[in-house]
Amino acid sequence: MKNSISTPIEISKTNRSKIEQVDFENLNFGKTFTDHMFICNYANGVWETPKIIPYGPLTLDPSSRVFHYGQAVFEGMKAYKDEHDDIFMFRPEENFNRINASAKRLCIPEFPEAYFFDGLKTLLELDSDWIKPGYGNSLYIRPFVIATEASVLALEADEYSFMIICSPAQSYYAGEVNLLIEEKYSRSASGGFGYAKAAGNYAGQFYPTNLAKDKGYQQLIWTDSNTHEYIEEAGTMNVFFRINDTLRTAPISDRILDGITRKSLLEIAKREGITVDVSPIRISEIITAAENGTLKEVFGAGTAAVISPVKGFGHQGTHYDIEPIENSYASFFKKTLMDIQYNKAEDTFGWRYKV
Ligand code: COI
Repeated sequence: MKNSISTPIEISKTNRSKIEQVDFENLNFGKTFTDHMFICNYANGVWETPKIIPYGPLTLDPSSRVFHYGQAVFEGMKAYKDEHDDIFMFRPEENFNRINASAKRLCIPEFPEAYFFDGLKTLLELDSDWIKPGYGNSLYIRPFVIATEASVLALEADEYSFMIICSPAQSYYAGEVNLLIEEKYSRSASGGFGYAKAAGNYAGQFYPTNLAKDKGYQQLIWTDSNTHEYIEEAGTMNVFFRINDTLRTAPISDRILDGITRKSLLEIAKREGITVDVSPIRISEIITAAENGTLKEVFGAGTAAVISPVKGFGHQGTHYDIEPIENSYASFFKKTLMDIQYNKAEDTFGWRYKV
C-alpha cells in the first residue's frame, strides 16, 4: 500500500457544497452524504479511468442486472480525524481484500488495489471538512460495486460500476440493543455466500428482523441453517459473549462475515491475556450461562456499530436481561479500539492508516 497517488483520476468538483446545511450534532446514520463520490466503470474487460464527481443520482438502464439479479457487493469502512486534523482509516487493506473476495463469489471482476486506495485518499482529501474530530464522530465510507449491463438475461454482467460514497456518522444504534435468537429463518447456508458482503445477504434479513422488531428486539442473532442450535452472528455485527471471564465468539465459516472489528478484538484480547474461545456456541450454553449467572456480557462488533453492548436477548418466548457490570470487556475493547482509530494511543498492531 503506497501513500503517493499514481492513479489518473478525473476530478470534477461541485461548485456548491452542501456542508452548511448539515447538523453534525444530530446525524441519522446513513442519511447524509458528502459533496463528492468516486466512480469507476468496467467495460470491455477493463476498469476505465476513475472519476470523482459531485454526489448525485445515477442514470441506469432499467434492465441493469443489479436490479434483477442482485449482483452487488459492498464494504463499510470509516475515516477518523484527530485533534491535529490528520485523517486516519482503520485496516483499509482488509476492506479491499474483502470486497474483492465478495466480488469473486458474485462473479464481479476484482477491483485494482491502486484505484481503490488512490480513489479513497483523493475523495477523503476533497471532502475532508466532512470528517469531524472528536470521539464518536467519523465518516462512514461505503465502497460498492453494481452490475450495470443492460440485460435481463440471468447471467453475470459484462459491465459494472465501482463507487465510493461517504456519510458523516455518529452512532449506528441509538439507545439500547436487545437481540432475539432466530430459529426459523436463516441468514445464510453452507455453500452459500454469507461470508460475502453481498447486498442480498442484507435484503433477506429485513423480513425476519421486522418480525423481531414487532416483539421489541432491534436485531436477530442468527443461528446455523442446518440445526438452528448454534449461534452465528447478529444482524449487522459479529456477536461476542463473556462467560465468566472467557470471551466467546463463533468461528468464521462460509456462512459468517469475517468482520474486521471482530478479528481486531480477538487480537486485542490475545495481547491483553484475556482467555478467548473461538468455537461453535450452542444456544443451550448461552441459556444455561444466563440462568446460572455466568453470562456476564453480550456485545456486537462491526464497523458501523463499533462495539454495541447488548441489554438483553430473547429466546423461545423468554427474555434474558444482562445486568451492566463494571470493568466490562465491551467498554475496554471500545476504548482500546477507538484510541487506535482516533490516534490517541500507540498502535502496536500497525492498523492505523494515515491518509
Ligand atoms: C458495517 O458495519 O459497516 C456494515 O456493513 C453494516 C451495515 C449494514 C450498516
